[in-house]
Amino acid sequence: MKEIERQLCIENIPVINLAREYGSPLFIYSAELIKNNFEKYQNELGSNDLICYAVKANSNLHILKLLSELGSGFDVVSGNELKRCLRAGADKNKIVFSGVAKSNEEIKLAIENDILSINIESYGEFERIAKISEQLKKSVNCALRVNPDIAIGSHKYIETGSKTSKFGLDSEAVNKISDEARDNKLVNITSVACHIGSQISDENLILKSLDVISEIANNLSLNGHAIKFLDIGGGLGIQYKDEEAGDPGILMAGVKNRLEGKEYKIILEPGRSIIGSAGILVTKIEYIKNAGGKKFAIIDAGMNDLIRPSLYEAWHEVKELENKEISSDTYDLAGPVCETGDILAKDRNLKILPNDFVAFMDVGAYGSVMSSNYNSRLKPMELLVMDGEIEVIRRKETFEDLIALES
Ligand code: LLP
Repeated sequence: MKEIERQLCIENIPVINLAREYGSPLFIYSAELIKNNFEKYQNELGSNDLICYAVKANSNLHILKLLSELGSGFDVVSGNELKRCLRAGADKNKIVFSGVAKSNEEIKLAIENDILSINIESYGEFERIAKISEQLKKSVNCALRVNPDIAIGSHKYIETGSKTSKFGLDSEAVNKISDEARDNKLVNITSVACHIGSQISDENLILKSLDVISEIANNLSLNGHAIKFLDIGGGLGIQYKDEEAGDPGILMAGVKNRLEGKEYKIILEPGRSIIGSAGILVTKIEYIKNAGGKKFAIIDAGMNDLIRPSLYEAWHEVKELENKEISSDTYDLAGPVCETGDILAKDRNLKILPNDFVAFMDVGAYGSVMSSNYNSRLKPMELLVMDGEIEVIRRKETFEDLIALES
Protein backbone atom coordinates (compact mmCIF):
# COMPACT_ATOMS: atom_id res chain seq x y z
CA MET A 1 0.00 0.00 0.00
CA LYS A 2 1.46 3.33 -0.93
CA GLU A 3 0.38 6.81 -1.79
CA ILE A 4 0.81 7.85 -5.41
CA GLU A 5 -0.25 11.34 -6.44
CA ARG A 6 -2.19 11.79 -3.20
CA GLN A 7 -4.16 8.55 -3.70
CA LEU A 8 -3.89 5.31 -1.75
CA CYS A 9 -2.74 2.59 -4.16
CA ILE A 10 -2.31 -1.17 -4.13
CA GLU A 11 0.43 -2.16 -6.56
CA ASN A 12 -0.04 1.13 -8.46
CA ILE A 13 -3.81 0.74 -8.74
CA PRO A 14 -5.72 3.56 -7.00
CA VAL A 15 -7.97 1.96 -4.38
CA ILE A 16 -10.62 4.59 -5.10
CA ASN A 17 -11.07 3.12 -8.60
CA LEU A 18 -11.64 -0.35 -7.11
CA ALA A 19 -14.10 1.05 -4.56
CA ARG A 20 -16.07 2.78 -7.32
CA GLU A 21 -16.08 -0.29 -9.53
CA TYR A 22 -16.75 -3.03 -6.98
CA GLY A 23 -18.58 -1.14 -4.20
CA SER A 24 -18.09 -1.39 -0.47
CA PRO A 25 -17.44 -2.82 2.03
CA LEU A 26 -14.59 -4.48 0.17
CA PHE A 27 -11.53 -6.45 1.28
CA ILE A 28 -8.51 -6.03 -1.01
CA TYR A 29 -5.22 -7.93 -0.76
CA SER A 30 -1.86 -7.37 -2.40
CA ALA A 31 -0.13 -10.51 -3.69
CA GLU A 32 3.16 -8.60 -3.76
CA LEU A 33 2.99 -7.85 -0.03
CA ILE A 34 2.06 -11.47 0.76
CA LYS A 35 5.08 -12.62 -1.23
CA ASN A 36 7.38 -10.08 0.43
CA ASN A 37 6.22 -11.11 3.89
CA PHE A 38 6.64 -14.79 3.03
CA GLU A 39 10.12 -14.21 1.66
CA LYS A 40 11.19 -12.42 4.85
CA TYR A 41 10.81 -15.82 6.52
CA GLN A 42 11.91 -17.97 3.60
CA ASN A 43 15.25 -16.13 3.25
CA GLU A 44 16.13 -16.96 6.85
CA LEU A 45 15.31 -20.66 6.85
CA GLY A 46 17.69 -23.58 6.75
CA SER A 47 17.16 -25.96 3.83
CA ASN A 48 15.07 -28.44 5.82
CA ASP A 49 13.05 -25.91 7.79
CA LEU A 50 9.43 -25.33 6.90
CA ILE A 51 6.90 -22.51 7.01
CA CYS A 52 3.41 -23.76 7.77
CA TYR A 53 1.23 -20.68 7.22
CA ALA A 54 -1.54 -20.49 9.86
CA VAL A 55 -4.66 -20.89 7.73
CA LYS A 56 -6.89 -19.40 10.43
CA ALA A 57 -5.46 -15.94 9.72
CA ASN A 58 -6.98 -15.93 6.22
CA SER A 59 -8.26 -19.09 4.63
CA ASN A 60 -9.32 -17.85 1.19
CA LEU A 61 -8.55 -20.59 -1.36
CA HIS A 62 -6.77 -18.19 -3.69
CA ILE A 63 -4.48 -16.99 -0.93
CA LEU A 64 -3.74 -20.58 0.10
CA LYS A 65 -2.95 -21.40 -3.52
CA LEU A 66 -0.61 -18.43 -3.81
CA LEU A 67 1.23 -19.45 -0.65
CA SER A 68 1.36 -23.09 -1.68
CA GLU A 69 2.97 -22.06 -4.98
CA LEU A 70 5.56 -20.11 -2.99
CA GLY A 71 6.42 -23.38 -1.22
CA SER A 72 4.51 -22.84 1.99
CA GLY A 73 3.11 -25.60 4.15
CA PHE A 74 0.05 -25.05 6.31
CA ASP A 75 -1.05 -25.13 9.93
CA VAL A 76 -4.73 -26.06 10.13
CA VAL A 77 -7.11 -26.18 13.08
CA SER A 78 -10.09 -27.97 11.61
CA GLY A 79 -10.94 -30.67 9.11
CA ASN A 80 -12.40 -28.02 6.85
CA GLU A 81 -9.21 -25.94 6.93
CA LEU A 82 -7.40 -29.14 5.96
CA LYS A 83 -9.86 -29.66 3.09
CA ARG A 84 -9.30 -26.06 1.97
CA CYS A 85 -5.55 -26.70 1.77
CA LEU A 86 -6.06 -29.89 -0.21
CA ARG A 87 -8.42 -28.05 -2.56
CA ALA A 88 -5.82 -25.31 -3.02
CA GLY A 89 -3.26 -27.90 -4.12
CA ALA A 90 -1.18 -27.95 -0.94
CA ASP A 91 1.52 -30.54 -0.40
CA LYS A 92 -0.06 -32.93 2.16
CA ASN A 93 3.31 -33.64 3.63
CA LYS A 94 3.65 -30.00 4.66
CA ILE A 95 0.46 -29.80 6.72
CA VAL A 96 0.33 -29.76 10.52
CA PHE A 97 -2.96 -30.00 12.40
CA SER A 98 -3.31 -28.13 15.72
CA GLY A 99 -6.42 -27.63 17.86
CA VAL A 100 -7.80 -28.87 21.17
CA ALA A 101 -11.05 -30.47 20.02
CA LYS A 102 -10.25 -32.66 17.01
CA SER A 103 -13.20 -34.93 16.28
CA ASN A 104 -12.96 -38.59 15.22
CA GLU A 105 -13.78 -37.56 11.64
CA GLU A 106 -11.09 -34.88 11.60
CA ILE A 107 -8.46 -37.27 12.94
CA LYS A 108 -9.48 -39.86 10.34
CA LEU A 109 -9.21 -37.29 7.56
CA ALA A 110 -5.73 -36.29 8.73
CA ILE A 111 -4.48 -39.89 8.97
CA GLU A 112 -5.94 -40.87 5.60
CA ASN A 113 -4.19 -37.92 3.99
CA ASP A 114 -0.75 -38.67 5.51
CA ILE A 115 -0.21 -35.13 6.74
CA LEU A 116 3.13 -34.12 8.29
CA SER A 117 1.83 -34.20 11.85
CA ILE A 118 -1.18 -34.14 14.08
CA ASN A 119 -0.26 -31.84 16.95
CA ILE A 120 -1.65 -33.60 20.01
CA GLU A 121 -3.16 -31.34 22.66
CA SER A 122 -4.42 -33.82 25.29
CA TYR A 123 -3.98 -37.38 26.49
CA GLY A 124 -7.55 -38.12 25.35
CA GLU A 125 -6.65 -37.02 21.83
CA PHE A 126 -3.65 -39.37 21.84
CA GLU A 127 -5.98 -42.26 22.80
CA ARG A 128 -8.33 -41.34 19.93
CA ILE A 129 -5.49 -41.14 17.43
CA ALA A 130 -4.15 -44.54 18.58
CA LYS A 131 -7.59 -46.10 18.18
CA ILE A 132 -8.29 -44.61 14.76
CA SER A 133 -4.87 -45.45 13.35
CA GLU A 134 -5.41 -49.03 14.46
CA GLN A 135 -8.85 -49.15 12.81
CA LEU A 136 -7.37 -47.74 9.60
CA LYS A 137 -4.23 -49.89 9.95
CA LYS A 138 -2.26 -46.83 9.06
CA SER A 139 0.63 -45.15 10.82
CA VAL A 140 0.51 -41.48 11.78
CA ASN A 141 3.16 -38.91 12.65
CA CYS A 142 2.37 -36.70 15.59
CA ALA A 143 3.76 -33.75 17.49
CA LEU A 144 3.31 -33.23 21.19
CA ARG A 145 2.08 -29.66 21.49
CA VAL A 146 3.29 -28.61 24.88
CA ASN A 147 2.42 -25.68 27.04
CA PRO A 148 5.68 -23.90 27.91
CA ASP A 149 4.04 -21.56 30.44
CA ILE A 150 5.32 -18.30 28.99
CA ALA A 151 3.26 -15.12 29.25
CA ILE A 152 3.63 -12.76 26.29
CA GLY A 153 1.85 -9.65 27.54
CA SER A 154 -0.43 -9.07 24.51
CA HIS A 155 -4.24 -9.06 24.74
CA LYS A 156 -5.43 -11.76 27.15
CA TYR A 157 -7.62 -13.33 24.44
CA ILE A 158 -4.61 -14.06 22.24
CA GLU A 159 -2.23 -15.47 24.86
CA THR A 160 -2.08 -19.24 24.54
CA GLY A 161 1.02 -20.44 26.36
CA SER A 162 0.30 -19.79 30.04
CA LYS A 163 0.00 -22.71 32.43
CA THR A 164 -3.77 -22.63 32.80
CA SER A 165 -4.63 -22.01 29.12
CA LYS A 166 -6.66 -24.69 27.32
CA PHE A 167 -3.86 -25.28 24.78
CA GLY A 168 -1.10 -27.83 24.85
CA LEU A 169 0.05 -30.62 27.15
CA ASP A 170 1.48 -30.31 30.65
CA SER A 171 4.54 -32.34 31.63
CA GLU A 172 2.50 -35.13 33.20
CA ALA A 173 0.56 -35.68 29.95
CA VAL A 174 3.80 -35.50 27.90
CA ASN A 175 5.37 -38.26 30.01
CA LYS A 176 2.30 -40.45 29.87
CA ILE A 177 1.99 -40.17 26.07
CA SER A 178 5.74 -40.62 25.66
CA ASP A 179 5.63 -43.94 27.50
CA GLU A 180 2.53 -45.25 25.76
CA ALA A 181 3.50 -44.13 22.27
CA ARG A 182 6.84 -45.91 22.61
CA ASP A 183 5.00 -49.21 22.61
CA ASN A 184 2.63 -48.20 19.82
CA LYS A 185 3.72 -49.31 16.35
CA LEU A 186 1.41 -46.93 14.46
CA VAL A 187 1.62 -43.64 16.36
CA ASN A 188 5.03 -42.02 15.87
CA ILE A 189 6.02 -39.00 17.91
CA THR A 190 8.22 -37.10 15.47
CA SER A 191 7.89 -33.52 16.61
CA VAL A 192 7.49 -31.22 19.61
CA ALA A 193 5.37 -28.14 19.09
CA CYS A 194 4.26 -25.03 20.92
CA HIS A 195 2.60 -21.70 20.16
CA ILE A 196 2.63 -19.15 22.94
CA GLY A 197 0.35 -16.51 21.50
CA SER A 198 -0.03 -13.81 18.93
CA GLN A 199 1.13 -10.24 18.19
CA ILE A 200 4.53 -10.80 19.87
CA SER A 201 7.23 -8.18 19.22
CA ASP A 202 9.95 -9.71 21.40
CA GLU A 203 11.47 -12.65 19.51
CA ASN A 204 13.15 -13.75 22.77
CA LEU A 205 9.83 -14.96 24.11
CA ILE A 206 9.54 -17.42 21.24
CA LEU A 207 13.20 -18.40 21.71
CA LYS A 208 12.44 -19.12 25.37
CA SER A 209 9.70 -21.49 24.24
CA LEU A 210 12.19 -23.12 21.88
CA ASP A 211 14.46 -23.82 24.87
CA VAL A 212 11.56 -25.52 26.61
CA ILE A 213 10.57 -27.71 23.67
CA SER A 214 14.12 -28.58 22.74
CA GLU A 215 14.68 -29.94 26.25
CA ILE A 216 11.45 -31.94 25.98
CA ALA A 217 12.62 -33.23 22.58
CA ASN A 218 15.85 -34.44 24.18
CA ASN A 219 13.92 -36.29 26.87
CA LEU A 220 11.64 -37.85 24.27
CA SER A 221 14.67 -38.97 22.28
CA LEU A 222 16.12 -40.56 25.39
CA ASN A 223 12.81 -42.37 25.80
CA GLY A 224 13.18 -43.90 22.32
CA HIS A 225 11.33 -41.43 20.06
CA ALA A 226 12.90 -40.20 16.82
CA ILE A 227 12.19 -36.47 17.05
CA LYS A 228 12.86 -34.70 13.75
CA PHE A 229 10.99 -31.40 14.06
CA LEU A 230 10.71 -28.57 16.54
CA ASP A 231 7.60 -26.52 15.76
CA ILE A 232 7.81 -23.10 17.42
CA GLY A 233 4.38 -21.91 16.31
CA GLY A 234 3.53 -18.49 14.93
CA GLY A 235 3.03 -15.29 16.80
CA LEU A 236 5.36 -12.61 15.45
CA GLY A 237 3.53 -9.31 15.60
CA ILE A 238 3.05 -6.60 12.99
CA GLN A 239 2.97 -2.83 13.34
CA TYR A 240 -0.63 -1.62 13.62
CA LYS A 241 0.20 1.69 15.38
CA ASP A 242 3.40 2.31 17.28
CA GLU A 243 4.23 -1.21 18.44
CA GLU A 244 7.32 -2.89 17.03
CA ALA A 245 6.90 -5.64 14.44
CA GLY A 246 8.57 -8.98 15.16
CA ASP A 247 11.53 -9.76 12.94
CA PRO A 248 11.84 -13.20 11.27
CA GLY A 249 15.58 -12.55 10.78
CA ILE A 250 16.21 -11.98 14.50
CA LEU A 251 14.03 -14.97 15.36
CA MET A 252 15.80 -17.36 13.00
CA ALA A 253 19.27 -16.09 14.00
CA GLY A 254 18.35 -16.90 17.61
CA VAL A 255 17.03 -20.31 16.56
CA LYS A 256 20.26 -21.19 14.70
CA ASN A 257 22.33 -20.05 17.61
CA ARG A 258 20.44 -22.20 20.07
CA LEU A 259 20.29 -25.32 17.93
CA GLU A 260 23.96 -25.29 16.90
CA GLY A 261 25.06 -28.88 16.39
CA LYS A 262 21.57 -30.32 16.70
CA GLU A 263 19.81 -31.99 13.81
CA TYR A 264 16.30 -30.67 14.26
CA LYS A 265 14.27 -29.15 11.45
CA ILE A 266 12.31 -26.07 12.45
CA ILE A 267 8.64 -25.53 11.67
CA LEU A 268 7.17 -22.02 11.89
CA GLU A 269 3.44 -21.28 11.84
CA PRO A 270 3.15 -17.57 11.03
CA GLY A 271 -0.26 -16.16 10.16
CA ARG A 272 -0.59 -12.46 10.95
CA SER A 273 2.95 -11.59 9.87
CA ILE A 274 2.35 -13.10 6.42
CA ILE A 275 -1.07 -11.72 5.56
CA GLY A 276 -1.89 -8.95 8.08
CA SER A 277 -0.25 -6.01 6.33
CA ALA A 278 -1.34 -7.25 2.89
CA GLY A 279 -5.05 -6.53 3.31
CA ILE A 280 -7.32 -3.51 3.64
CA LEU A 281 -11.04 -3.04 4.18
CA VAL A 282 -12.60 -0.26 2.12
CA THR A 283 -15.73 1.29 3.53
CA LYS A 284 -17.96 4.21 2.59
CA ILE A 285 -18.94 7.12 4.82
CA GLU A 286 -22.72 6.96 4.78
CA TYR A 287 -23.45 9.83 7.14
CA ILE A 288 -21.73 12.32 9.36
CA LYS A 289 -23.66 12.97 12.56
CA ASN A 290 -23.32 14.74 15.88
CA ALA A 291 -24.36 13.18 19.16
CA GLY A 292 -24.01 15.34 22.26
CA GLY A 293 -20.98 17.15 20.90
CA LYS A 294 -19.33 13.98 19.56
CA LYS A 295 -18.87 13.55 15.83
CA PHE A 296 -19.59 10.20 14.26
CA ALA A 297 -18.75 9.04 10.78
CA ILE A 298 -21.26 6.28 10.10
CA ILE A 299 -19.68 3.74 7.77
CA ASP A 300 -21.02 0.84 5.74
CA ALA A 301 -18.69 -1.75 7.36
CA GLY A 302 -19.57 -3.08 10.79
CA MET A 303 -18.22 -5.24 13.57
CA ASN A 304 -19.61 -8.20 11.63
CA ASP A 305 -17.06 -7.43 8.86
CA LEU A 306 -14.13 -6.54 11.13
CA ILE A 307 -14.55 -7.64 14.72
CA ARG A 308 -11.05 -6.95 16.02
CA PRO A 309 -11.76 -3.41 17.34
CA SER A 310 -14.92 -4.52 19.20
CA LEU A 311 -13.46 -7.79 20.48
CA TYR A 312 -9.91 -6.81 21.42
CA GLU A 313 -10.07 -3.00 21.33
CA ALA A 314 -7.66 -3.42 18.42
CA TRP A 315 -6.43 -0.31 16.61
CA HIS A 316 -6.38 -0.21 12.81
CA GLU A 317 -5.14 2.82 10.97
CA VAL A 318 -7.80 4.54 8.86
CA LYS A 319 -6.75 6.28 5.65
CA GLU A 320 -8.62 8.48 3.23
CA LEU A 321 -8.38 7.10 -0.31
CA GLU A 322 -7.81 10.57 -1.74
CA ASN A 323 -6.19 13.55 -0.15
CA LYS A 324 -8.88 16.23 -0.50
CA GLU A 325 -8.52 19.96 0.11
CA ILE A 326 -11.13 20.08 2.87
CA SER A 327 -10.78 20.69 6.59
CA SER A 328 -10.27 17.77 8.92
CA ASP A 329 -12.24 16.85 12.00
CA THR A 330 -12.15 14.18 14.69
CA TYR A 331 -14.59 11.29 14.35
CA ASP A 332 -15.53 7.96 15.84
CA LEU A 333 -16.19 5.56 12.96
CA ALA A 334 -19.33 3.60 13.76
CA GLY A 335 -20.82 0.74 11.79
CA PRO A 336 -24.42 -0.17 10.94
CA VAL A 337 -24.77 -2.99 13.48
CA CYS A 338 -27.23 -2.49 16.34
CA GLU A 339 -24.63 -2.74 19.10
CA THR A 340 -23.08 0.11 21.04
CA GLY A 341 -19.76 -1.68 20.62
CA ASP A 342 -19.93 -1.40 16.84
CA ILE A 343 -17.24 1.28 16.73
CA LEU A 344 -14.37 0.39 14.42
CA ALA A 345 -12.14 3.37 15.21
CA LYS A 346 -12.18 6.13 17.81
CA ASP A 347 -11.03 9.74 17.69
CA ARG A 348 -9.60 9.75 14.19
CA ASN A 349 -8.66 12.95 12.48
CA LEU A 350 -9.90 12.67 8.92
CA LYS A 351 -10.78 14.80 5.92
CA ILE A 352 -14.05 13.19 4.92
CA LEU A 353 -17.52 13.92 3.58
CA PRO A 354 -20.54 11.62 3.15
CA ASN A 355 -20.06 9.18 0.23
CA ASP A 356 -16.25 9.30 0.52
CA PHE A 357 -14.40 6.04 1.03
CA VAL A 358 -11.78 5.26 3.66
CA ALA A 359 -9.62 2.17 4.18
CA PHE A 360 -8.96 0.24 7.38
CA MET A 361 -5.35 -0.85 7.10
CA ASP A 362 -3.65 -4.14 8.10
CA VAL A 363 -6.81 -6.24 8.15
CA GLY A 364 -5.50 -9.13 6.03
CA ALA A 365 -5.21 -11.37 9.10
CA TYR A 366 -8.22 -12.18 11.28
CA GLY A 367 -10.37 -9.81 9.24
CA SER A 368 -12.63 -11.54 6.72
CA VAL A 369 -12.19 -14.93 8.42
CA MET A 370 -13.80 -13.60 11.59
CA SER A 371 -16.68 -11.89 9.79
CA SER A 372 -20.29 -12.96 10.30
CA ASN A 373 -23.79 -12.37 8.99
CA TYR A 374 -25.00 -10.66 12.19
CA ASN A 375 -27.95 -8.33 11.48
CA SER A 376 -28.36 -10.31 8.22
CA ARG A 377 -25.51 -8.38 6.73
CA LEU A 378 -23.88 -9.82 3.63
CA LYS A 379 -20.17 -10.59 3.80
CA PRO A 380 -18.03 -8.31 1.63
CA MET A 381 -16.49 -9.10 -1.71
CA GLU A 382 -12.75 -9.84 -1.65
CA LEU A 383 -10.21 -8.88 -4.32
CA LEU A 384 -6.63 -9.97 -4.88
CA VAL A 385 -4.34 -7.65 -6.81
CA MET A 386 -1.57 -9.64 -8.48
CA ASP A 387 0.87 -8.42 -11.14
CA GLY A 388 -1.43 -5.51 -11.97
CA GLU A 389 -4.43 -7.82 -12.45
CA ILE A 390 -7.52 -7.73 -10.25
CA GLU A 391 -9.08 -11.02 -9.31
CA VAL A 392 -12.38 -11.42 -7.44
CA ILE A 393 -11.41 -14.10 -4.93
CA ARG A 394 -14.73 -14.07 -3.11
CA ARG A 395 -17.91 -12.70 -4.63
CA LYS A 396 -20.24 -10.59 -2.56
CA GLU A 397 -22.88 -12.63 -0.78
CA THR A 398 -26.49 -12.29 -1.87
CA PHE A 399 -29.73 -12.41 0.07
CA GLU A 400 -30.32 -15.86 -1.46
CA ASP A 401 -26.96 -17.08 -0.07
CA LEU A 402 -28.01 -15.78 3.32
CA ILE A 403 -31.21 -17.82 3.51
CA ALA A 404 -30.05 -20.82 1.45
CA LEU A 405 -29.75 -23.19 4.41
CA GLU A 406 -33.05 -22.20 5.96
CA SER A 407 -35.49 -23.44 3.33
N1 LLP B 1 -0.24 -21.58 15.36
C1 LLP B 1 -1.21 -21.78 16.26
C2 LLP B 1 -1.32 -23.09 16.90
C3 LLP B 1 -2.12 -20.74 16.56
O1 LLP B 1 -3.08 -20.94 17.45
C4 LLP B 1 -2.00 -19.49 15.90
C5 LLP B 1 -2.93 -18.40 16.16
C6 LLP B 1 -0.96 -19.35 14.95
C7 LLP B 1 -0.09 -20.40 14.72
C8 LLP B 1 -0.75 -18.08 14.17
O2 LLP B 1 -0.43 -17.02 14.98
P1 LLP B 1 -0.02 -15.60 14.32
O3 LLP B 1 1.29 -15.80 13.60
O4 LLP B 1 -1.10 -15.22 13.42
O5 LLP B 1 0.12 -14.70 15.49
N2 LLP B 1 -7.92 -13.45 16.27
C9 LLP B 1 -6.78 -12.91 16.98
C10 LLP B 1 -5.56 -13.79 16.83
C11 LLP B 1 -5.79 -15.23 17.26
C12 LLP B 1 -4.59 -16.11 17.02
C13 LLP B 1 -4.93 -17.54 17.27
N3 LLP B 1 -3.88 -18.46 17.04
C14 LLP B 1 -6.53 -11.49 16.48
O6 LLP B 1 -7.30 -11.00 15.66
O7 LLP B 1 -5.61 -10.83 16.94
